[in-house]
Amino acid sequence: MPALVLLGAQWGDEGKGKATDLLGGSVDYVVRYQGGNNAGHTVVVGDQKYALHLLPSGILSPGCTPVIGNGVVVDPSVLLSELSGLDERGVDTSKLLISGNAHLITPYHTTLDKVSERFLGKRKIGTTGRGIGPAYADKINRVGIRVQDLFDESILRQKVEAALDNKNQVLAKLYNRRAIAVDQVVEELLGYADPLSGYVADTTLLLNNAIDQGQVVLFEGGQGTLLDVDHGTYPFVTSSNPTAGGACTGTGVGPTKINRVIGILKAYTTRVGAGPFPTELLDDDGEKLRTIGGERGVTTGRDRRCGWFDAVIARYATRVNGLTDFFLTKLDVLTGWERIPVCVAYEIDGKRVEELPYSQTDFHHAKPIYEALPGWSEDITQAKTFDELPKNAQKYVQALEEMSGAPISAIGVGPGRDETIQINSFL
Ligand code: GDP
Ligand code: IMO
Ligand code: MG
Repeated sequence: MPALVLLGAQWGDEGKGKATDLLGGSVDYVVRYQGGNNAGHTVVVGDQKYALHLLPSGILSPGCTPVIGNGVVVDPSVLLSELSGLDERGVDTSKLLISGNAHLITPYHTTLDKVSERFLGKRKIGTTGRGIGPAYADKINRVGIRVQDLFDESILRQKVEAALDNKNQVLAKLYNRRAIAVDQVVEELLGYADPLSGYVADTTLLLNNAIDQGQVVLFEGGQGTLLDVDHGTYPFVTSSNPTAGGACTGTGVGPTKINRVIGILKAYTTRVGAGPFPTELLDDDGEKLRTIGGERGVTTGRDRRCGWFDAVIARYATRVNGLTDFFLTKLDVLTGWERIPVCVAYEIDGKRVEELPYSQTDFHHAKPIYEALPGWSEDITQAKTFDELPKNAQKYVQALEEMSGAPISAIGVGPGRDETIQINSFL
């Protein structure tokens, strides 16, 4: 089992960090393939809690090499402060490898992210304000700055000049902001060259060799399927491809080398930022899910919007990612409800629809059709096997599995590493 992808099956925050960390002890590499420090992964190890943004969650497993792939956008100042934060807590970060082809988030990307959101007013995306969209826009527009550019001052200066030529016009004339000086940006970026030089590597070559030699590589997605720029609820998405294909383009490993794709699926649904969300609850149940589930963003501290489980979305995630397994998380949060509604299909303009509509207008009109499943009141956080779960919790899991189109191979019953019921091995 040399290569597997682990990704979010909903709108992010499904518990990818915990799931990756759980596998970290048995894999050789954990590789981020897209996104940047918009991600917020909380990992609980014993009595220690870690909040990771840019670093792969594998960094907490001593035997594992963490890799930042070419598809990631890297804010070097955030990277260095995350590294020093972990160093101070005694975590060995020396094995980290960063692709020289990964693009950089510079201060002008962060500025542009914030001003463009303000400019959108009511139509804003609700981004994390971390410069993600503008950095990816520059990459696609071929005016991006890459990690490798830090090591050639003359190329770096030319590229910063090319990028700022246009942006300074936009900043000054459209957003009424002061222009950004090329010298200032170049000087700041050059300051990152030394501290980062030891980490930069040809990660594509290394990962392909590792897989060929039978080592185990885990690709860790940030965000989630419905936030994918191609397959998500566009335009209310992030600017990268968290879906399984992104693991290939974002690392330079071909699809024939990947043999397992695990979708992390919360036992209910959450979303941060703007955009459609058919099962959103604006009532006491929503508030209860938020409180019991601790649904507050790790990156921006925003309250997460909460709602019931949506099987239409889970089926869609199975389809667009080719999922082989699900890891169902936060089942424990649902303890205490007498009945738990699950969205099995949508009603759109009077018609029952089983699959996610491709039309944005239809999705905005989608009303959930619920089936209520019987709940349970017993504490499940100590359960170690499926049989130890209350009968109704077992039935809830089985119903979700049937509706979602892939086997549920693990169940999270608490935030800790060991608070997991493993049904089928992932390796
Ligand atoms: P990620 O972005 O997908 O890594 O998820 P986040 O870390 O943003 O949010 C998931 C939250 O749920 C974190 O605080 C985790 O510690 C927590 N968590 C993960 N799995 C479980 C679980 O099975 N039960 C409970 N109660 N919490 C969990
Ligand atoms: P993890 O990895 C949840 C959301 C933002 C916003 C949209 C675009 O922790 O699951 P961006 O800053 O990426 O341009 O914002 O995407 N978003 C996330 N929501 N979890 C995340 O990451 C997210 N990363 C971005 O809230 O709606
Ligand atoms: Mg998160």
